[in-house]
Amino acid sequence: MTALAQGLVERLAVVEKIICPTPVIQLTNNHIDLFTKLEYLNGIGSIKDRPALWTLKRAIERGEIESQTTIIESSSGNFACAIATLAKMLEINFIPVIDPNISPLYESWLRSQCDRVIKVENHDDTGGFLKSRLCKVQQLKSEISDSYWPNQYGNPDCMEAHYHLTGEEIWQSISSIDYVFLGVSSAGTIAGVSQRLKEHNANIRIVAVDVEGSVIFRHSLYKRWISGLGSSIIPPLLKHALIDEVVLVSEVETIAGCHELLEKYGLFVGGSSGSAYSAIKQYFAKLNQRTRPRVLFLCCDRGNAYLNNIFNRRWVEWRVNATDNA
Ligand SMILES: Cc1ncc(COP(=O)(O)O)c(C=O)c1O
Repeated sequence: MTALAQGLVERLAVVEKIICPTPVIQLTNNHIDLFTKLEYLNGIGSIKDRPALWTLKRAIERGEIESQTTIIESSSGNFACAIATLAKMLEINFIPVIDPNISPLYESWLRSQCDRVIKVENHDDTGGFLKSRLCKVQQLKSEISDSYWPNQYGNPDCMEAHYHLTGEEIWQSISSIDYVFLGVSSAGTIAGVSQRLKEHNANIRIVAVDVEGSVIFRHSLYKRWISGLGSSIIPPLLKHALIDEVVLVSEVETIAGCHELLEKYGLFVGGSSGSAYSAIKQYFAKLNQRTRPRVLFLCCDRGNAYLNNIFNRRWVEWRVNATDNA
C-alpha cells in the first residue's frame, strides 16, 4: 500500500467513529404508544450521515476512491452536507451539484466546506431540477478523469447503511413494535430499514410516507416547496423496500406536523419529521384499534434549514392560503 493510500485508510478509521447509535424516545399520546428515533443527533446533523459514511467507506475499501479522487454528487441538502464534511475529514475533493431550491443554510455550509459548488439553474422537463443536476453530474464525471459518483438514488451501499445501522439500531432499542412510518425520497432508508426489521419480525408493518406532488408512488407531479421527502423520479432503490402501505401528506399537513412536534414535544425538526408525524395522526384517526399499537417514526433532521419556510410565519400564511399547488 502506498503512503497516500495508507493515510486515507487511517483517516477513514477516525471518521468512522462519528457514527454512533441515536436515541429512541417516547412521546406522550392518548391513543398509541408513540416513539421517535432522533436521527438529527447524528454528528453532522441528519439521517444522511449514515449512507454518506457507508458509501464512502465501501468505495474506499473497493479502491474506487483514492486520495486524489474527486467526489461528485447531486443533492438538495443533507446528503451533500454529510459528504462535504466527511470528504474534508478524509482530505478528498468534493464537488456538490445543487439547485436554486436548496436551503440558504445548506448552501452556505457547502460553500464553506468545498472549493467548488455547482448550482444548476435550468429547469428539467418535470419543472424541477433533479434531472438537470444528474445531467451536470454526468458532464463533470466525463470531464474529471478520476472521479466518483456516490449516486444516492441508486447505490445499494446507501440501503446497506440503513440495513446495518438504522434498521438494526431500531430493533436493538425497541424490538416490540407494530408500525414503523418512514419518509421516502431516494428510498435508501425505507429499503434498508424495512429489510432489516422484517427479517427480525415479518409482522412489523412498514408504512411509507410520501408528499403530495411527488411521483414515487405514481401520484401526480407538481411543485413541492419543502425539501426532504418526495422525488420527481421513481428511485431505483424503491424496488428493494418491503412496504405494506403508503400515506400521502400535503405540505400544509407537513407544516402542521412540524409545528405540533415543536409546541407539544419541544422537537425542533425538519419537514420529513413533520410529514411522518402527520401521516401517523392521519392513519390512526381512521383506525379503530382495541389495543394501543406501538408506533415509531424518525426525526431525520433539525428545523434550522426550514427557518425560511416551515418556521417562517409569513411564508406559512402564504402556503396555507395558496389555492393551487404551484
Ligand atoms: C430530512 C430527510 N428525511 C428523510 C429523507 C428520506 O430518506 P431517503 O432518501 O433515504 O428516502 C431525506 C432524504 O433526502 C431527508 O433529507
